[in-house]
Order: sequence, then structure tokens, then C-alpha cells
Amino acid sequence: MKILLKNMEQPGYTGSLKEYEQTGGYQALRRVVGGMEPNDLIDMVKASGLRGRGGAGFPTGVKWGFIPKDHPGPRYLCCNADESEPGTFKDRQLMERDPHQVLEGIGISCYAIGAQIAYIYIRGEFRLGFQILEKAIQEARQAGYVGKNVLGSGVTIDIYVHAGAGAYICGEETALLESLEGKRGKPRTKPPFPATHGLYQKPTVVNNVETLANLPHIVNRGAEWFSSIGSPPKSTGTRIFCLSGHIKKPGNYEVPMGTTFRELIDEHGGGMRSEKPLKAFIPGGASAPFLTPDHLDVKMDFEDVAKAGSMLGSGGVTVMEEGTSMVWAALRLMEFFNHESCGKCTPCREGSSWIVQILQRIRAGRGRMQDLETLSTICGNIGGRTVCAFGDAEIAPVLSTLQHWRHEYEALIREAEAAHPPKSEIPVLSL
Ligand SMILES: Cc1cc2nc3c(=O)[nH]c(=O)nc-3n(C[C@H](O)[C@H](O)[C@H](O)COP(=O)(O)O)c2cc1C
Repeated sequence: MKILLKNMEQPGYTGSLKEYEQTGGYQALRRVVGGMEPNDLIDMVKASGLRGRGGAGFPTGVKWGFIPKDHPGPRYLCCNADESEPGTFKDRQLMERDPHQVLEGIGISCYAIGAQIAYIYIRGEFRLGFQILEKAIQEARQAGYVGKNVLGSGVTIDIYVHAGAGAYICGEETALLESLEGKRGKPRTKPPFPATHGLYQKPTVVNNVETLANLPHIVNRGAEWFSSIGSPPKSTGTRIFCLSGHIKKPGNYEVPMGTTFRELIDEHGGGMRSEKPLKAFIPGGASAPFLTPDHLDVKMDFEDVAKAGSMLGSGGVTVMEEGTSMVWAALRLMEFFNHESCGKCTPCREGSSWIVQILQRIRAGRGRMQDLETLSTICGNIGGRTVCAFGDAEIAPVLSTLQHWRHEYEALIREAEAAHPPKSEIPVLSL
């Protein structure tokens, strides 16, 4: 079942406007601007059950419905193409290989919420994606799909691409808006929410690339068709999972929601890269708590992964084989989060640095048993105590490795204590 990757997997498909049109591209946009009521479109997306693919899984139609109908001034759509979550690389493929699918989704979303301007906020390192999108927008403008009077309907939809400067935090929707306004990318306190006070304090929807790319298909084939795919009623449609790590065939795999991790890893990814069995996996990008081989038969949908103690997040599934040090894995991820903390909130700014120092000390053979309690306490003082969800994300690797592989931390500390016993325990030689 392929929806989003279908076109690009045809031999020779380059993603040009002509090729996209040949697959039925832009028919959905034609239909909506040709007379569909924006409210009906919002209802259709609500009925489809589409939920955001950027991380939080918020229902897309419901989010659109929060935009005030009577607001007289401008309103905006921001396409979140920042994609900086470690282990996640699906939006990049969607933009580079089938850019018009994304643009058509943007056009449909703009029409639904009454936005005349959409910004694609793209990760700074995605130079190729930036160029491809710019070219595609030019093509779409010439063909009348973008610009003033779209397809003779009197509707205006302008799309601009804006490159970020490489900060992970700018993927958080309010930091993205700050950055787009030319300010330093730091999250805003919510409420007020972007739906009422977004870009330039105007009503704004922020949607992920993959979320938007689903829209042409929902309009063309109907809400009922979409909601019958996957794990209805709460996890409908397909998802592109980015499979990486110690796997034979890393890559992007689009499968119906509700497929199990075992199927993804063994059937699509070809299994583990060597004879070593799987030891751990991250189910939804670096912000998602680690899971264990006991969770391989969990269904990849929002509810089941949450019940297993993690989250589907951004769809980045990173697999680790037996022999991987989980203390090292936690440290590696914490170094990333510490580097990327924007510094606005003290618990995140200071706490991430303390966690890195403690993990480095344990790895260097200088750990103490009380470090484990200190790690838990620091995490407890970060989670839920920051302006944005970065704080909750960064403690996931530490807490989940402490939960499932505490013995690895303890073994390193015991070795350290044996090699360097505390002074009081050094045996005194009798002369
Ligand atoms: C630290 C942080 C980084 C994020 N990075 C991204 C990102 O790169 N891309 C993305 O689509 N959403 C990202 N999000 C989620 C966005 O804040 C937002 O929920 C999402 O863009 C909404 O789109 P959706 O409803 O279509 O999922 C991030 C959130 C946090 C807290």
C-alpha cells in the first residue's frame, strides 16, 4: 500500500510538473478551488482521521478548524520542512523526489484555512530540496496552480521557500515562526496558540511536509477510503518510516499504520545487518523512548506505541544490535540535545549539560552509584518544566535506557569502583 512514495518509485520518474500531472496531479486542487466549500474540505479531512506526521500526531482537520473564521486580516500556512530529528529523513525525499505532491497539499491546505500565503520553512542543510522546490513553484506558477487567480478561480495562493540556519529547535512550531519573522529561533509560551497568534501574530497553521502531501489523495479518493487504511479509527492512512541503524536495508518505507515493528525491520529492512540479534530500537526519532526486542510485535500506530511506553513521533526507527552500549547510545543522543538546546529555559539549558557530564564520567570509568539517582532527579526537573516539548524529548534516551538497561550503567560503575575504590576503602598495608 503506497500512497506518497508511489509516483517516485516508478522507473524514470523525476517529479517534473508534466509527470506529476500525468499521474492525476493537481486534480484535487482543481476540484477544491473549483467550488468546494472550505468548511466541507475541513470536515473531509477531519473524517479522514489524518493526524500530523511531524511528531505530536494532532488531528489535522481539527487544527484547521481552530483558525478563526471571522478574522479580517491575513492568515498563513507554514509547511514545516525543518526535519532535524535524528533518524528522520522522509520529508527530504518527498520534497526532492515529488515536490508537486507537497505543493498541491499546500495549496489545498491554504484554501481550507483561507490563507493566501504559505511559507515552506526548510532545513538549512537541504540545499538540493530548496532548489527543487523553487523550481517546482516556478513551474506551478506558470501553469496557474500557484499565484493570483489559481486556475481562474479568483483564489490567491502564493508559496515561498525559506531556508533555516541549521537549528533543531526551529522545527518546534513557535520557534519556527520566530525564525521566519527574522528573530532568534526560540519557542514562544503557549497560549496564545499559532491558530490565533501565529506568524506576525496572525492566525497560522503549521503542518508537516508528509501531513500536507496526504491531502491531494484524500480529496481525490475520499475520507472513507483514507480512514479505512491503517488502524482506524485513530491511526489512519500510511506512514513513511525511516529505517536506519544496524539494518541490512536502511531507507524510507511507506506502510499502513498498524504494521508491526517486526514486519518493518525483518520484511522491509531485510533484518539485522549481521548475525547479532536486535538489542534496542528507537521507534519515532531521537525524542522517543527506546524500546526492546519484547516490543517488536507492537503495532506502529499512535495508541499502541504509546501503550508500550514510547511514541511514534517523527517516524524515525533506529535499530541497534546486541553489543551496542546503551550508556554510549544515551550519551550520544544527549550530546545532540545539549548542543541543540536553545537556552531559553534553565532546566533544559543547564540540565542537558549536567546529564552529558555525568554520562561522560560514567563512560570514562569514573562513575558513582549515586549518579544514577542524580540522573533521574535531573530528568524529573526537566520534564514538563520547559516552554516547549524539547525538555520532554531530551530526557527520553536517559530515562528509557535507565529503565531497560540499568544493569549496564551499574556494571560500568562497579568496574570503576573496583579500579578506583573510594579512599576510605583503600586497604592499609601493615608494615
Ligand atoms: C524540539 C522540536 C522539534 C521539532 N521538529 C519538527 C520538525 O523538524 N518537523 C516537523 O514537522 N515537526 C517538528 N516538530 C513538531 C512541530 O512543533 C509541530 O507539532 C508540527 O510541525 C505540526 O505539524 P503536524 O500537525 O502536521 O504534525 C518539532 C517539535 C519539537 C518540540
